[in-house]
Amino acid sequence: MNLRIRQMRPSDVVAVVRIANQAFLETARLGWLMGRRAVDRLVEDRECLFVAEAGGEVVGFVVGGCSGDRATIGWIAVHPDYWGRGIGGMLLGAVEEVARRKGIGVVETGTPFARSFYEKHGFRCVGVDRCMVLELVGRAISLPEGVRVRTLMLDDIGSLIELMGEDEWLRFSRAFFSAYEDDPEKAIMVTSKEGTTLGVAVGENDRTYGELVTLTYMFVGREGDAMKVLDSMAYLASSRGHRWLGVRLPLEGTSQEELEGRGWEDAKLPSFWTRYRMRKEI
Ligand SMILES: CC(C)(COP(=O)(O)OP(=O)(O)OC[C@H]1O[C@@H](n2cnc3c(N)ncnc32)[C@H](O)[C@@H]1OP(=O)(O)O)[C@@H](O)C(=O)NCCC(=O)NCCS
Repeated sequence: MNLRIRQMRPSDVVAVVRIANQAFLETARLGWLMGRRAVDRLVEDRECLFVAEAGGEVVGFVVGGCSGDRATIGWIAVHPDYWGRGIGGMLLGAVEEVARRKGIGVVETGTPFARSFYEKHGFRCVGVDRCMVLELVGRAISLPEGVRVRTLMLDDIGSLIELMGEDEWLRFSRAFFSAYEDDPEKAIMVTSKEGTTLGVAVGENDRTYGELVTLTYMFVGREGDAMKVLDSMAYLASSRGHRWLGVRLPLEGTSQEELEGRGWEDAKLPSFWTRYRMRKEI
């Protein structure tokens, strides 16, 4: 195989988008997204942008960067016909070489699915940003017993300052107002039948994957009520016909084990996934 790694050029963008379409499971395969990112980076700073060429065809690319004391790998992909031939490793090597020349000693990236690729090339996992999802189709989704749910109205939110305290209320209202613009019905108040507030939750439609709602904020009065609030959000998302509810961990009042015990899974959706933070000293 006549292979070479060279700097990316504007005329490579179409091939880069095609490879991304065919290689990625994540939203990085969306043409507008990868095309836009590649073009932005070609305009701003192309020194860590490389492609792999086999027989004159572009078969892989890396969009990396060097900033301050670290280099990063933004996106890397190889055409599926060429997987497992060391091309991904060579593309990583090209970015590492630029970094070394600049006296940079660390390369970092985050990945959902390619952890073993990075480990094979000397990276280690230094942290996990865990996301979990509940599939709302194919299971019974009901409102927890003794609980009432209603959409939060603008008029309600002032009264929550007293319950939450000012700092927490500011965090809440940031999530509330961004959901308000997107879909005001995804901000809910959960109460007992007697009317005691158990908690509030705010969800947002995922912008690129319409079947997913993600929880952007949750407040519970007592830790023990966290699952009631979350189950109420699942009920709401299900009643609107969504397929998935997603949460980012840590989430107060719950744990990965508890969620798994209730049917939640590690997230591997196109735009919502557990991220493995990878690092290599070079
Ligand atoms: C990850 C990817 C760039 C690797 O390219 P490659 O040219 O096959 O990589 P190399 O030949 O240098 O390394 C191969 C090793 O990486 C790992 N690997 C290869 N493909 C992988 C994948 N899809 N997921 C996880 N690990 C993978 C394997 O450990 C493999 O070793 P093996 O052949 O001994 O089993 C390529 O599979 C790809 O484009 N995947 C889809 C896009 C992607 O996931 N990009 C990274 C996300 S940031």
